[in-house]
Amino acid sequence: MRTQVAIIGAGPAGLLLSHLLHLDGIESIVIETRSRADIEATIRAGVLEQGTMDILTESGVGERMRGQGALHHGFELAFGGKRHRIDLTGLTGKAITVYPQHEVIKDLVAARLAADGQILFEVSEVALHGVDTQTPSATFMHGGEARSIEADFVIGCDGYHGVSRPAMPAQEQRKNFQRIYPFGWFGILVESAPSSEELIYAQHDRGFALVSTRSPTVQRLYFQCDPTDHVDNWSDDQIWSELHARLENHDGWRLKEGRIFQKNIIGMRSFVSTPMQAGRLFLAGDSAHIVPPTGAKGMNLAVSDVKLLARGLEQFYRQGSEERLASYSDDALKRIWRAEYFSWTMTRLLHTFAEATPFEREMQRAELENIVTSRAMATALAENYVGAF
Ligand code: FAD
Ligand code: PHB
Repeated sequence: MRTQVAIIGAGPAGLLLSHLLHLDGIESIVIETRSRADIEATIRAGVLEQGTMDILTESGVGERMRGQGALHHGFELAFGGKRHRIDLTGLTGKAITVYPQHEVIKDLVAARLAADGQILFEVSEVALHGVDTQTPSATFMHGGEARSIEADFVIGCDGYHGVSRPAMPAQEQRKNFQRIYPFGWFGILVESAPSSEELIYAQHDRGFALVSTRSPTVQRLYFQCDPTDHVDNWSDDQIWSELHARLENHDGWRLKEGRIFQKNIIGMRSFVSTPMQAGRLFLAGDSAHIVPPTGAKGMNLAVSDVKLLARGLEQFYRQGSEERLASYSDDALKRIWRAEYFSWTMTRLLHTFAEATPFEREMQRAELENIVTSRAMATALAENYVGAF
């Protein structure tokens, strides 16, 4: 097979890139190791920044998001038995939408298939070749047959565990930056009405907890846990009593319980691999960087990366100029580092670190007090959260 742009991975980055290129008249083929049913059912992110909502709307795939997503104008910080509202819209003029990532995936897959776009699911043994030549290619197995795609560019949108980052040619300036956190998140999906109209980020000596939502009948809750723990070690009663303890408050608010129908534990890391391009291979989304989920930035960064890449590829095909493509990594990394900083700040602010001294714990609490009493500090937090940069 031959195409203009070969895209590895059908996550938000790969699918949105393929969709945006199609709107610009540029051909692409997406290859994905998992099945369509699998990618459309994997529970991950929930928070879309205004910029993410805007690009989905402008590119014609925002209809279900606008209908079914919930627009949130603020969130709450809970600590010391009290809840404090961060008025996102009042402070920044912007809002966020809570709309599950797998619904975004469904919308993008539907749009690509409706436009006769090619997505090859359930491929295996993916390998990249000639990425530092003008004719890079990908080889893989599909339906029991060995296949290959030759392209002008290969874009690695295959997440943190994909093959694209390891295929980047060794370069002197290649650097990886990483921080692994000593805790994870225990996530559950619950059948119940929402406990709160807005998300609640709670700091507590027993550890962080987060109240999020998926729909009027399904709620998403998380609590900080040992990353090596196993979901089977926790009974439903233990999960509820841990969440109640961390979300305790003196204002009468109470978490609603319901049937828990999904549990998982995720590890937490900060990671950036630079540069995000070498020859004709470009990385976008989680393949190049990871943030801990406390700042709700991961999917939004994947979207902002591919927006830049789509513009660069459009300039290449329309004007024959590589200017934007050449500055892709530098341009993308400006936003990525700020999101890394914000995600790290939120993580540090809200989690319980076993090694923290009593002094450091008081500093953490004082920082939270500063945020909820200083409009300037709350504004900085809100700007970062909505992605107003
Ligand atoms: P992925 O979604 O990882 O997609 C990569 C795709 O490539 C996958 O479908 C994979 O199967 C495929 N693939 C892998 N290897 C290969 C290969 N060799 N060949 C072909 N295909 C391959 N982000 C937010 O913005 N807001 C949030 O609220 C938020 N909450 C989160 C909560 C949780 C519990 C988790 C785990 C993540 C959360 N994130 C959040 C992060 C967000 O989900 C990711 O940043 C986002 O999925 C990145 O998109 P991507 O397309 O780069 O990668
Ligand atoms: C989610 O709903 O999954 C979610 C919300 C906010 C976060 C992380 C995850 O910061």
